[in-house]
Amino acid sequence: RLEVTETFAGIALPGHLHTAESLQFATSFPFRDTDVVIVTYPKSGTTWMQEILTLLYSRGDAQPAKTIPNWERAPWLEQIHFRSSLRDTATNRLITSHLPARVLGPRLQGSKAKVIYVARNPKDVVVSYYHFHLLAKFLPDPISFDAFLQQFLEGKVHYGSWFEHVKGWLGQRQLLDIIYVTYEELHQDLRGAAQRLSAFLGITLEPQTLLALEQHCSFAAMRDNAMANYTLIPREIMDHSRGRFMRRGVVGDWRCHFSAAQNALFDRVYHKEMCDNELSAHWAM
Ligand code: PPS
Repeated sequence: RLEVTETFAGIALPGHLHTAESLQFATSFPFRDTDVVIVTYPKSGTTWMQEILTLLYSRGDAQPAKTIPNWERAPWLEQIHFRSSLRDTATNRLITSHLPARVLGPRLQGSKAKVIYVARNPKDVVVSYYHFHLLAKFLPDPISFDAFLQQFLEGKVHYGSWFEHVKGWLGQRQLLDIIYVTYEELHQDLRGAAQRLSAFLGITLEPQTLLALEQHCSFAAMRDNAMANYTLIPREIMDHSRGRFMRRGVVGDWRCHFSAAQNALFDRVYHKEMCDNELSAHWAM
């Protein structure tokens, strides 16, 4: 394992991707009003949204998505490669971040940049995140699903607490030009979500763009697209013999992983943390 941890604002982050300097750069980044920022807690639909936005901005031309790795199309603000990957010539720069609102919100508030926040049922997030720890050598050994679940509920995993992340970004509604999208919505109605996103971004959506987007952004197409499925990452960093980044891509996989006791514990924490929250009804726990 490459496991070096960088701690920032009380959160653990993979040290091979983040440094004090890259984080300083992120938190003082001068956003432009034309920037489009995808914000997610890990494993919530980041890669899917990167692909959808690529197709929307290319007006359905799959060429960029098939020839440029996603981390160059929509680079991570807080990571060390950001500066060299940011395509500064683009009118609408696509930028990705996993940072919490308390860190990034104040910086974004100084611009009219558009923010797309993607959230996913946290039970599916923890399952996806656990499996990702098995292949990503820059994350700690999860030991067991039970141990990992415990750490997740305590907010001790990399990138911090899911609850803090979601609540923090929901709290930015009045402060930013922000839209909220869920992974489940993308699953249920990709067309409708693409239409909602186009309206938010001010993009006219032609029927052929929608068709190309639906085809290119399907799980199967993305699983087989080397520019989206992370198979270009060397084995020392992601060991694909231990699992795939594009793992299952379904809603409700937690049911195959949670015991009754783990589910009861999760529900207890969830209700305590999310009691009067608009998204809590969305997942009906
Ligand atoms: S990361 O590491 O934070 O960038 O991961 P992220 O992209 O947010 O989440 C990865 C999960 O999203 C699933 N995924 C998809 N599901 C359905 N359809 C499409 N097109 C799609 N693209 C990515 C991916 O499979 C991971 O979820 P799991 O449950 O592990 O399969």
